[in-house]
Formats: sequence, C-alpha cells, structure tokens
Amino acid sequence: MPKPFKPSVQLKENDVTDERVYMNRRSLLKSMGFIGASTLLAKSASAAGWFWEDDEEKVPFKSEPLEFSQPPKFQISETRTPENKVISYNNFYEFGTAKDAPAKNATEFQTNPWTLTIDGLVKKPITLDYNALTTRFPLEERIYRLRCVEAWSMVIPWVGFELAALIKQADPLMSAKYVAFETLYDPDQMPGQRSRFMGGGIDYPYVEGLRLDEAMHPLTMMAVGLYGKTLPPQNGAPIRLVVPWKYGFKSIKSIVRIRLTDKEPPTTWNRLAANEYGFYANVNPNVAHPRWSQASERRITTGGLLTRNRIDTQLFNGYTEVAPMYNDMNLSRYY
Ligand code: MTE
Repeated sequence: MPKPFKPSVQLKENDVTDERVYMNRRSLLKSMGFIGASTLLAKSASAAGWFWEDDEEKVPFKSEPLEFSQPPKFQISETRTPENKVISYNNFYEFGTAKDAPAKNATEFQTNPWTLTIDGLVKKPITLDYNALTTRFPLEERIYRLRCVEAWSMVIPWVGFELAALIKQADPLMSAKYVAFETLYDPDQMPGQRSRFMGGGIDYPYVEGLRLDEAMHPLTMMAVGLYGKTLPPQNGAPIRLVVPWKYGFKSIKSIVRIRLTDKEPPTTWNRLAANEYGFYANVNPNVAHPRWSQASERRITTGGLLTRNRIDTQLFNGYTEVAPMYNDMNLSRYY
C-alpha cells in the first residue's frame, strides 16, 4: 500500500500511549531481554514445575482442510495465482508493511479462541465462536479476482459463505443503512499496532465499511479459507471479508466485530488519506489514483513476482452485475 505516512524520529503523544497499552506483563518481560527465548524458557519452566501461562498456549499456525460444496459457485477461466504466492505476498499492516512481513511475523498469531460479534442496529445480536465460523453456515468455494489499489492482482479460490446469510440471522432494523467492520486490536500479537513506523502510520484497529445493499450483495463473502484449507494468518485468519469488485483494502482481515449503523462508517485508508482512498473504492480503470494510473494491473500468476504480466483492468474488476447499485452515482469521480 502506498505510504503517505512519513516516519518521524520524535515520539508523538499517541506513540507513547500505544507503548503504554502494549506494555503488559508479557511484553514487559520481553523488553527485559527475554525476546525470542520465551518458548525455550516455557519448556524449562514447566520442567522445573512452574508455568509461563501465555507461552503454554502458543501453537504455530497450521492450515486445516475444510469441507465445502463443489463445484465452485463462481468460476473464472483465468489462471489461478499459485497458493505459495497468495500466502507469501500480502498486505496486512498489523504485521508490517513489507509484502513478505505478514507471512514472517504472523506465524504464531492465535486465532482460536476467537469471537466475532454482529451487533448495532439489529434485533438479534450474534456472537460466533471459532467453531461456529466454519460450521454455522454451509461453506462453498468461489474463485474471485482480487485487485489491489496498488495495481497488482491475483485469482484466488476462497472458501466461505455469503455475508448476507450472517446479516439476515441478526435481523437488521429498518434504520440500518451501513455495515462497519473491525479487525482485532491486540498490540501484543500484532507488532504493527505497537509501532507507528512498522504499522504504516495507521490508527488501529483497522476499520472498513460497506453500504447495507453492498454487504447483502450475493458476491460479498466472508472467507474462512483459501485453496481448500483454513486461512493462514497472513491472509486474515480466522475470518475476513472479500468484496471482489472493490479495491483490496476494503477486504478487511481478522474481523472481530460487524456493526450495523445508520451512518457511513469511517474507513482506515480514507482516514489516512481522504484524497486518495474513497469509501466506495470500486475498481475503475477510468479513474486514476492521484499518483498512478488504474488502467492496467500486474497479474500475479505462475511466473516470478517481477514477471511483466500486465492486463487491462476491468470496471468493477469484471463483476459488472453490481453496476445497478451505483446508477445514481457519478463513477468518474474518485469514490
Ligand atoms: N485488513 C487489515 N486488517 N489490515 C490490512 O493491512 N490490507 C488490505 C486488505 N485487508 C489489510 C487488510 C489490503 S491493502 C489488501 S490488497 C488485502 O487485504 C490483501 O489481501 P491478501 O494479503 O490476502 O492478498
């Protein structure tokens, strides 16, 4: 993601606050020189008869196979991006801004237990635990294009369910007009939330939003897996949004809360640079980003990451069935 954030050497007030928040028992111990040695210490500690509770529970992440209906509900003929690229070239600033940082820094991200709450303007608020995320709704596979605002793209086989199914169960009130999403806030686990430099200057938690009709659209999906297995942490485990006709930053990862509201909710990239990232962020080759063209994209497929594989970008990323939702909007403006 482009970085409007300019690192400054001087600590600002909120840097200090962030530091304070994360200086809990575990981090404090780490800062006293136990960094990296904690697992080893946990072992010898338990052997000696005392326990290091936090580390006891830490298990490196392992993808598990998922059961889902076949054939895929949405198919495209384009070549899929190989799994090793989907899981190693990521944007997940909570784990660092480099493309390879999330895969490196999220290996021990704890996604079980997990709770996802749907509340706000609904009659029946719901809280799903880790198990319910993959069992409450029948899972299906969908092969979607993912177009990042940075002008690269992938073709990914997701596993998940329609967001509409989840929202319907919560029974929205007539007054609900928008849906607000929130990523986990846990600076102890997410190094990018501890340091403004490592986290790209974002005020965490990462937040996103959709209009209610966009959220209810049959293409809008909650993904719990890719390539037939549970999501790796770097791709947004245990559950993330996938909105294939919008720039990738709308597809928020590792969601803990979905809130129905009557006002357009704030969104992370819009808050950071309102002139560059709109609330709608529909893929549109005819509207350039203020700093680069959006007319074409680098499709990441089987070649090396630097292979020149430029293709034309399509309006709504090719998902033109969503167009009627925007009939009354001037798409030539940067939304
Ligand atoms: N969600 C959170 N919480 N934090 C992020 O930094 N990056 C977004 C989006 N969701 C991001 C996020 C961006 S810019 C993109 S392009 C996609 O995730 C990338 O998804 P992928 O890494 O699975 O390809």
